[in-house]
Amino acid sequence: MKSAIIYYSFTGNTHRVAQLIGDVLRDKGDEVVPVRIRPLKEETHFLTQCKEAFLSKKPDLYRTLLELKDFDRIILGSPVWAFKPAPAINTYLDKGASLEGKKAICFVTYGSGAGKENTLRIMKKGLQAKGAEVIDTISFQQGEGPAECKEKIKAVLV
Ligand SMILES: Cc1cc2nc3c(=O)[nH]c(=O)nc-3n(C[C@H](O)[C@H](O)[C@H](O)COP(=O)(O)O)c2cc1C
Repeated sequence: MKSAIIYYSFTGNTHRVAQLIGDVLRDKGDEVVPVRIRPLKEETHFLTQCKEAFLSKKPDLYRTLLELKDFDRIILGSPVWAFKPAPAINTYLDKGASLEGKKAICFVTYGSGAGKENTLRIMKKGLQAKGAEVIDTISFQQGEGPAECKEKIKAVLV
């Protein structure tokens, strides 16, 4: 099984979870390609980040892997920003090629948890619109330890 882990991370929580997912999948013999996406102009001010996320903006991204036909499974990860995915995820879902016939999983990392279900719903809908079959979702609270995160990952992916 070959998986692509596509994710955006600003302060590193989603990146750490993406790495743990990669570790779990590699341990079971899967091939994993992590793809960290990033806007050309990355907003760094909290209120601007909230506004851009709330308005579902689609910032231009640094060149990234958009064609995923060589992968069996797509794992899409985002922090929750103002009850929604980070804007880079909107762009990825908009620009990415068809995911017809692919299995997909979405995950979020969050603070208080406000808006995490809405965020997963938007990500799921975006993947489904590309033809993917979303088989599961996982959410991780910031500060959750690696052991706890790995248990959640294994429950879904192993
Ligand atoms: C701009 C911004 C908006 C946020 N909005 C929410 C929110 O609506 N709900 C929530 O539970 N956490 C929210 N958070 C917390 C992040 O989702 C959480 O810290 C996440 O793990 C950050 O991921 P990262 O380190 O990969 O960037 C927000 C953080 C930022 C920076």
